[in-house]
Parts: sequence; C-alpha cells; structure tokens
Amino acid sequence: MNYDEEKLMSHLLISLRNYHYETYKHSIRVAKLSYNVANMMRLNMKEKIAIYKGALLHDIGKVMIPINILAKPDKLTELEYDVMKLHPIYGADILEALTPLSYLTSTVLYHHERLDGTGYPYGLKIIPFGAQIVAVCDSFDAMTNDRQYRKAKSAIEAIQDLRECDAKYNQMLVSALENVIKTNAKVFGKNRESNGIAI
Ligand SMILES: [Fe+2]
Repeated sequence: MNYDEEKLMSHLLISLRNYHYETYKHSIRVAKLSYNVANMMRLNMKEKIAIYKGALLHDIGKVMIPINILAKPDKLTELEYDVMKLHPIYGADILEALTPLSYLTSTVLYHHERLDGTGYPYGLKIIPFGAQIVAVCDSFDAMTNDRQYRKAKSAIEAIQDLRECDAKYNQMLVSALENVIKTNAKVFGKNRESNGIAI
C-alpha cells in the first residue's frame, strides 16, 4: 500500500492520541510554539513546516514506552527514567522505517540533546537547528504545564530558567520564544490563565 506523508502523519498522531492523550496535547503545543519560533528566526516556509512536523512527532517514540512508566503519577525511578530516555531512539526508528517521514528523523532523535553535552541519547554538543528549536519549546511547555508530581511554572519563570541554562539552550532561540510568548500572549497564555499565570 502506498501511504503519503500526510496520511502517515495522521496515523501516527492518532496512535499517540489514543495511547497517551497528555503527550499528544503536549506535542500539539510544542509544534505551535516551534513553528512560531522558526518564524521569528525568519526561516523559510519549507523549513518552518519541517520544524512544525518534526515537533508534532518529537515524542512519537513514547508509543513504545510501557504505559505504566509513561503515565506514572509519581516521579520515575532511575531504571524507569532510563527506559523513558529511549523514546528519541524509538521515534527515530519509527520515522526511518516510513520513508516519506524519514527527513524528520534528526529533529526527533536529537530533541533531548543539550549544547553542553549533558543531553541524551548521545551527549552531543553539535545539534541540528530544528532539534534545538524543539528542545527549547519542549522544555518551556513541560515547565509551564502541571505534571503529576509538580506544579506548573509561569511563562516568566520558565523563560528565566531557560536563560539560566545558557550552556544547554541556544539563547537566541530562548529570546525568540520570549518574543513569541509576548506577542501571542492571548494564544499561548490562554490555558495558563487558569493557573494565574500570565506574561
Ligand atoms: Fe521527548
């Protein structure tokens, strides 16, 4: 059977939505932020769309993580965290096998790498630009939304945290994200107002 790119993407996203709805919603938010950051960085339309699609699928490998680990309400044990850290590799494996989507592999595989080499799975210090954008937006979204075992931070606090990790994150992208949040406060601040969080 011949599947085109759009059809493959929607199959994968439906699988993610059915497997773990929170990760699906997170992926949609990260994709919107990443597109807007790419736009702020004046990337061309083809690059912006590739970053949007890569961000939509950045956590697709989590469909291979046992649900008792993925949806665990408490902090993960060291062993469980080691299993969780396999998701970029699983995601890359999925995309590599689906030829029309294989050009998105690097964004998925490297979105947890950090510029100081403290990330995973490889501890790289040179990271593709798309993965750097997703890394910043992914971390921001994780910080500004409640996790089972910790409360959400405000957008201001999250940007501040990203600034303090200046060795880990591309600070040009952190500034671009800050501008995106400020200029789209209504869009990106909406579900945060209920937490009393605004920027
Ligand atoms: Fe991830």
